[in-house]
Amino acid sequence: MDPGETIAALERERDRGLATIREAASLEDLRDAEVAVLGRRAAVPSIQRSLGEVPPDDRPALGKAINEVFEAFRGALGAREQELRAEREGAFAEADAIDVTLPGRRLPMGTLHVLTQTERAMVDAFVALGYRAMEGPEVETDWYNFEALNIPPDHPARTMQDTLYLDVPGASDLVLRTQTSPMQIKAMEAQPPPLYVVVPGRTYRNDTLDATHSPVFHQVEGLAVDEGLSLADMKGTLEAWSQAIFGTEQRVRLRPSFFPFVEPGAEVDVSCFACDGAGCRICGNGWLEIMGAGMVHPRVLENGGVDPERYTGYAWGIGVERVAMLRHGIPDIRLFFEGDIRFLERFVGGTA
Ligand code: PHE
Repeated sequence: MDPGETIAALERERDRGLATIREAASLEDLRDAEVAVLGRRAAVPSIQRSLGEVPPDDRPALGKAINEVFEAFRGALGAREQELRAEREGAFAEADAIDVTLPGRRLPMGTLHVLTQTERAMVDAFVALGYRAMEGPEVETDWYNFEALNIPPDHPARTMQDTLYLDVPGASDLVLRTQTSPMQIKAMEAQPPPLYVVVPGRTYRNDTLDATHSPVFHQVEGLAVDEGLSLADMKGTLEAWSQAIFGTEQRVRLRPSFFPFVEPGAEVDVSCFACDGAGCRICGNGWLEIMGAGMVHPRVLENGGVDPERYTGYAWGIGVERVAMLRHGIPDIRLFFEGDIRFLERFVGGTA
């Protein structure tokens, strides 16, 4: 083996090896490059192994030259490794970077359903007048929903409230309550007079769904039982309430009507908030019909365990859907129950 040729071969291999190392584009590439220049099958190590064939005098110089090439490789490998590591960390850091100047992400917040908002506002206005809120079950017995309220089994008033009966073995008299009025009896049973309660709740009737009827709807019932209560107290209470709900100028009028559990009974109208009683598209004749009310029938007081000789009372029931539709100009009752997010979103953040 000719030493001159070997030196020339070494230089070629050195340049080739260094280029391979420099060109390694990743730490994985670099490991391959290391095998390519230092591995068992690499060129320079095989030159080293053939040193024995070189004349003894030339060996030291050649050995030194080989070591220098190895050193150059190792130096280049180390340097390239550092570069690649730094690059990789930089890429990680960039991917992880947090831009503290970006605006925060808003979580989509839920909101109270417009009926819940309305119901709460209706209840709150009575609570402000001194009434206590109560709730009752949606499944009632025939007694509480009808009989105790002066509606015996064959009474024609039952046809006013087409009822959904429950098919429960052993209990033939269960109904989905058609009104919140059964809570009048339960409130009287729970507490002796003076009694001032307001009862929001869900109610059911066997009605076909259309723009103004729903088999599921809501009412806010009220009951006052005390000594010396008169129709004037009731009217004043309902007027103060409607002013809180619709505006400060509201007037209230009573039109005689019939409910078996009150005597006298009335439909209660409030003056239209849009036209102040002049008559408009919302009200027609200047008045909005929103509730039934009246003086509690003596037999109903008795059924609640209250002495009708000593106490009098008044009661009312207001439709929540009707109030919400009037206040917000909602044209169709079905919108409340369809769950269309575009409708519901109109009431985000609302309080009533
Ligand atoms: N419960 C009656 C209804 O649902 C309303 C009402 C309540 C009337 C209390 C008078 C007194 O129509």
